[in-house]
This record gives sequence, structure tokens and C-alpha cells, in this order.
Amino acid sequence: MKKWRCSVCGYVYDPAAGDPDNGVPGGTAFEDVSETWVCPVCGVGKDLFEPVNGDESEAGNTGGQPAAAGADRPVAEMGKNDPKAMQSALFKISYGLFVVTSVKGDRVNGQAANTVFQVTSDPMRIALGINKANLTHEFITESGVVGITILGEDGHDLVRRFGYSSGRDKDKFAGLEYVRGATGVPLVTGGIAFIEGRILRDQTVDVGTHTLFVAEVVEGAVIKDTEPMTYTYFRKTK
Ligand SMILES: Cc1cc2nc3c(=O)[nH]c(=O)nc-3n(C[C@H](O)[C@H](O)[C@H](O)COP(=O)(O)O)c2cc1C
Repeated sequence: MKKWRCSVCGYVYDPAAGDPDNGVPGGTAFEDVSETWVCPVCGVGKDLFEPVNGDESEAGNTGGQPAAAGADRPVAEMGKNDPKAMQSALFKISYGLFVVTSVKGDRVNGQAANTVFQVTSDPMRIALGINKANLTHEFITESGVVGITILGEDGHDLVRRFGYSSGRDKDKFAGLEYVRGATGVPLVTGGIAFIEGRILRDQTVDVGTHTLFVAEVVEGAVIKDTEPMTYTYFRKTK
């Protein structure tokens, strides 16, 4: 039975193991998994999974770029509106990796995210794409402030801590070293740089499953002058 990979976060569904936490017993082929099942890591539906090809499957879930369906496609064949080819092209966009944090009263929460980027330099503004189902989304929406901890190439444990579970189920900051920024957001000291932002509500866009928050940068500091983690590096080395 084939393994299938989430094209959004890289999670691999292994039919031998199933997803017992979410009602899918071991030994269930991906095709037989309920259509209402979603990726246990990032929450997208089955339609965004793609089969892992034989070589990758044998190598196990060691990361790396997903199967590039439609790769090396002759330009002459373009214009056919092929979703696989479009997805393969989207995988060539490079990203960093971040812990996005916020507050609600005296509570703190954060999540892993790759969709953080600078949109303008004067004034300094950033944008970030956050799933509406995430607790972090609720905190950012209510407080109007956001913290970004930029991860270095040693940030794997922080991605795992913040990206594979929700603050609805546990306190992800328990036992973790962090500081409070000027806006009150938590900033994880294991990263290499911090940014704090105030959400510009009139610039923020509802994009369906996610909100594209736009924020004014109000603080920033480099704490370790080393290489930032890229999404590709994380997937290759996780
Ligand atoms: C490598 C990686 C990248 C992710 N990128 C994003 C992202 O850009 N936006 C998003 O909404 N979720 C992203 N996620 C998923 C969230 O981190 C995850 O759903 C988290 O459990 C949400 O936590 P919360 O409910 O405590 O906010 C990513 C997860 C991983 C592992």
C-alpha cells in the first residue's frame, strides 16, 4: 500500500500505521480513509495529499521535496490547468520557518509557520497566513499583536513543539525559555531573531481557510547571527 504525503506540511500518511488518534486504524489504505479526515498536522483535506513514489517511500519520511509530479513538463504542454503541475511549481517557492505567537489576557500561545514574509520596507510591514482553526489565529485576532521568532537551522525541536499540536490541548510554552516583548507577546529565546508586529486590521484579508494578517513591525532584534532555517532544510533534515 502506498504512502501519501501532505503537500502543505510534508506529513506522510503511512497505511501500515494509519492515524489511530483520529479514528483511522493501522492497515487502512489511503483511498479507504474517510473523505472528512484531515491532515493531523496542518488540517488540510485529503485532496491536498499526493502519493509518495517508490524510492521516497523506501527511504522513509526523511523530508526533502515532495514528488514533483509535472516536473520537467514541456512548456508546450502548459495551459492545461493541471493541478499537479501547479502544485509542483508552488513547491519551488522557498520559505523560512517561524514560531508565530500571541497573547490573550494572561495566556500565551504560538504555532509553527512558514508563511511569514516582509511585504514593504517603508513602512516596515510583514504578512502571515494563519489557519482560522488555530488557537494562535484567535489570539492574534483578539489582541491585535503578533510575535515572530525566526528559527535557526537548529530549530527542529521548536517546529515539532509548536507545529504538531494545538494550544487548545496543551501549554506549548510549559518548560520553555522565552521572554515577553514590548507588546507582551512571548518570544522564544531558542530562535535567532525576533520581530513584533501590530496587526493592521484594515489591511488584513480573509482568504477562506486562512487569514492573511498584515502587521506593522514595531520591534526587531537579532539574537544570534547564524543561518535561518528554511522550510526545505527542515524537510530534508527532520
Ligand atoms: C513546518 C510547518 C509549517 C507550518 N506552517 C503553517 C502556516 O504557515 N500557517 C498555519 O496556519 N499553520 C501552519 N502550520 C500548522 C500549525 O503550526 C499547527 O496547525 C499548529 O498545531 C497550530 O497550533 P495552535 O492551534 O496552538 O495555534 C505549520 C506546521 C508545520 C509543522
